[in-house]
Amino acid sequence: MQDVHLTASMRILAGLLESRTGQVLSENRLWRLETSLRPVLRANGLPSLDALVAAIQADPGGALARAAVNALLNNETSFFRDGHIFDVLAHDLLPALMRAIGEAGRERTLRIWCAGCSTGQEAYSLAMLFRNHQDQWPDWRLRIVATDISTLAVERARSGLFSQIDVQRGLAINDLLRWFEPVGEQWRIHASLREMIDFRVDNLFEDKAPAGFCDIIFCRNVLLYFSPGRKAELFRILARHCEAGSYLLLGAGEAVIGQSTDFVASRRFRGTYERIEPKLFDAAI
Ligand SMILES: C[S@@+](CC[C@H](N)C(=O)[O-])C[C@H]1O[C@@H](n2cnc3c(N)ncnc32)[C@H](O)[C@@H]1O
Repeated sequence: MQDVHLTASMRILAGLLESRTGQVLSENRLWRLETSLRPVLRANGLPSLDALVAAIQADPGGALARAAVNALLNNETSFFRDGHIFDVLAHDLLPALMRAIGEAGRERTLRIWCAGCSTGQEAYSLAMLFRNHQDQWPDWRLRIVATDISTLAVERARSGLFSQIDVQRGLAINDLLRWFEPVGEQWRIHASLREMIDFRVDNLFEDKAPAGFCDIIFCRNVLLYFSPGRKAELFRILARHCEAGSYLLLGAGEAVIGQSTDFVASRRFRGTYERIEPKLFDAAI
């Protein structure tokens, strides 16, 4: 790993990101900090990171601070990322949840929250999966709320427009042909899928979205760069948005072990976590 020579400005910018989003820059990303911020410097006619920091300090709540934070976020995503989890959803988890909801006499609607949705590929993958299997559950509806702190990412997600490279990552040709139409050099996902998803800008730690309970929370590849304290805080927040019997899906490199007593690894559905009732002992603390 290359040695990172941290200037005072780099520390301040990394601190800004952490205080606004909880994300801690790894050594590798610290090294790329200047590269990530170059478009912001250029767009604002700023000659250096020092000049950027001075401008942000003059207006901490302003657009420049938000642009710098946006540029430092890792928005890496793709359609049907970690494909096996979508198989588990289609064949096991969604049918089981529908049975449980039916037995509880609830309205035939599945409620899903994609927390940290980036540019929308995860939420659109879910919408496609649901519609591809709709003949198995004709009278069910899917409601997806998808949130991200990055205004740019949410704007792109809402537009439903994807580049050629985006659609080549994880998307089956059948899904591309069925659900997308070419627009110039890009592809736009069908309005009927866009309408299934409510994309919102939201900071997870402000604990605002979505109102009510979810049957599944996707929070994948978001926790990777949080400190242990922030992870535990986030699990507490997520737990407030779901009831016992709901599920939490994390990224491949993420786990709840040691960070939460509200979720346990599911024995039925590999790679998922189940929301459990707090034990009396925990509740009394
Ligand atoms: C690496 S992407 C993962 C996207 C998608 N979940 C996936 O697995 O493909 C992580 C996303 O989390 C978002 N994020 C980071 N900190 C956040 C916070 N405090 N509140 C909301 N979103 C956050 C980032 O903006 C980024 O779009």
